[in-house]
Amino acid sequence: MLFDPAYLRDRIRTVPDWPEPGVQFRDITPLLQDPKSLRVLVEHFVFRYMDQKIDLVAGIDARGFIIGSILAHQLGLGFVPIRKKGKLPFTTIAEEYELEYGSATVEVHADACKQGDRVLLIDDLIATGGTMMAGRKLLERLGATVVEGCAIVDLPELGGSQLLRDSGLPLFTLVDFA
Ligand code: PRP
Ligand code: ADE
Repeated sequence: MLFDPAYLRDRIRTVPDWPEPGVQFRDITPLLQDPKSLRVLVEHFVFRYMDQKIDLVAGIDARGFIIGSILAHQLGLGFVPIRKKGKLPFTTIAEEYELEYGSATVEVHADACKQGDRVLLIDDLIATGGTMMAGRKLLERLGATVVEGCAIVDLPELGGSQLLRDSGLPLFTLVDFA
């Protein structure tokens, strides 16, 4: 085994009642801050994707930008940001979705990818799956194929990862929190 996922799990902090009462927020910043964890994380993703036919990495606002852009660089690929509404300057397309705590809209530039592109979609965490599903829809509306959805953390009890898999999206995550 390349590494023990428990090593990464131990570096994800749980913040109770944030951003609202009842939510156990899984905070990856200690993992990002620890050089060994960051290297182990990136190398695990690189190992998985280095031999796959992928044209672009798309990362979701905001923590998907951090890991997604490192991964794109390591794979020798370009990076596409999928952003929260109102942040991208050029022509955009948008998708609205529901979250564990509220609703939101994500956007992507209309020229971010082209028909037939094979895109790896990455975020830090899957909860209800709404964010990743919205990101996938944006990329597919531009004619791309999402090769796989990828995240550090899955919260399986919220049902998002199952929903995404049931919809036909291959999914890869490293650490589960019940
Ligand atoms: C978090 C996380 C994912 C999303 C997952 O971001 O980084 O993007 O929630 O939730 P879902 O599976 O229920 O859609 P958040 O929306 O809190 O935004 P932030 O990156 O601005 O903190
Ligand atoms: N996004 C949605 N739910 C979350 C949680 N519990 N921790 C971190 N990010 C989240």
